[in-house]
Amino acid sequence: MIHFPKDFIWGSATSSYQIEGAASEGGRAWSIWDAFAHTPDRTANNEHGDMACDHYHRYKEDVKLMADLGLKAYRFSISWSRIQPDGQGAVNEEGIQFYSDLIDELLKYNITPWVTLYHWDLPLALHTEKDGWLNPEIADYFGTYADICFSRFGDRVKNWITLNEPWVVSILGYADGVFAPGRKSKDEPYLVAHQLLRSHGKAVKIYREKYEKTQQGTIGITNNCDWREPLTDTPEDVAAAQKALEFFLGWFADPIYFGDYPKSMRDKLGDRLPKFSEEDKEMLLGSSDFFGLNHYTTLYAADAPSGPAAENNVYGNGGIFEDQRVALSADPEWKTTAMQWPVAPWGCQKLLEWIKDRYQNPPLYITENGCAYNDEIVNGEIKDTERLDFLNGYLSACHKAIGNGVNLKGYFVWSFMDNFEWALGYSKRFGIHYMDYETLERTPKNSALWFKEVIKENGF
Ligand code: GAL
Repeated sequence: MIHFPKDFIWGSATSSYQIEGAASEGGRAWSIWDAFAHTPDRTANNEHGDMACDHYHRYKEDVKLMADLGLKAYRFSISWSRIQPDGQGAVNEEGIQFYSDLIDELLKYNITPWVTLYHWDLPLALHTEKDGWLNPEIADYFGTYADICFSRFGDRVKNWITLNEPWVVSILGYADGVFAPGRKSKDEPYLVAHQLLRSHGKAVKIYREKYEKTQQGTIGITNNCDWREPLTDTPEDVAAAQKALEFFLGWFADPIYFGDYPKSMRDKLGDRLPKFSEEDKEMLLGSSDFFGLNHYTTLYAADAPSGPAAENNVYGNGGIFEDQRVALSADPEWKTTAMQWPVAPWGCQKLLEWIKDRYQNPPLYITENGCAYNDEIVNGEIKDTERLDFLNGYLSACHKAIGNGVNLKGYFVWSFMDNFEWALGYSKRFGIHYMDYETLERTPKNSALWFKEVIKENGF
């Protein structure tokens, strides 16, 4: 068993729309995901989050399971339209009460809440009436919502994440259209990303000016990125892989660490890439106390200066091909998860080290990593050796990265339980099990329990 630093944070993560259910209860109004999932043929089997894992009603049971697992940290997200049904104006006290009770329940078991303010469920009214993430005013709406959360929960919540994966919002939501709000555009992703970044900056500014001193918490953003390995060692492919990483992670991290988008993006996109005002630059620079990273997979990257958009587009993971001209591919020898994502722990280590080098070794948390598999049930136990291998591999990669000086301070496994996997619908229908609570409850030998051992072994 490898050992992690004593103060390493071991946690698990979920998000509001994927688990809460109670979509029209407790004063909550619809988000863009409710509307998207209720539009025919947008999700597998037309499934939606109306009930999901019923966490809204069963949160006490769920928290007890977390405590039994030995989790010290739990990352969840707040549904904006439960707090402000219209995305602006009146506060829904029932929504406040729900999260307040959840936080108290977690603290009762000494589980530290890590709270994401936005995990893709924009209040529908902000989208239909205000143009959602395309409207520059959204930074003010988001700031007000964040302010409400800080003032109501910040006495107990000390770890804030403004946005989850703005890349997904921009690319899957506005370029590929496979996620809410389902738009397909060449330019909107860049405009949306710009407003997401400004909104993040605004929330952080409010936290630092009004709450940080008294509440003493930290605040940051979570970005997602896969690793891009040059297909060959030609300078062209090496440059293509670097460009792909800049268009993926640099797009969102450079403005925070350097005050502007990567030069490769500016050179390629010109005026299609919005410009930050001086005020925005100042607001964004240094606006994350830590580097939140969601990491799942790796692909090869090759230079593709011309030719058809022949990208091996694994679930939209490339960004806009015409803008990047990087062809992505997987080695057919690589194992994949049930979501067809290649398993390549070495890519995780390389990405962690790339972040360390590019952004001056910031404190880093893996806020999501995990896998889906078609687990079999054998003699009443979940046979999930593939997941064990996955977790072993990725945690070893993390450990090696720490050995090489990466300031990795925590790891949150996705997910705490089976849930609504966005356009893929309910994973259970596909026989895909994440770390689900039935697994936790019923089976003595499985990776959830293994995870518990890891936590114990590491001194908790
Ligand atoms: C992430 C996302 C999660 C979950 C995960 C894969 O991109 O933040 O909500 O969908 O992928 O299971």
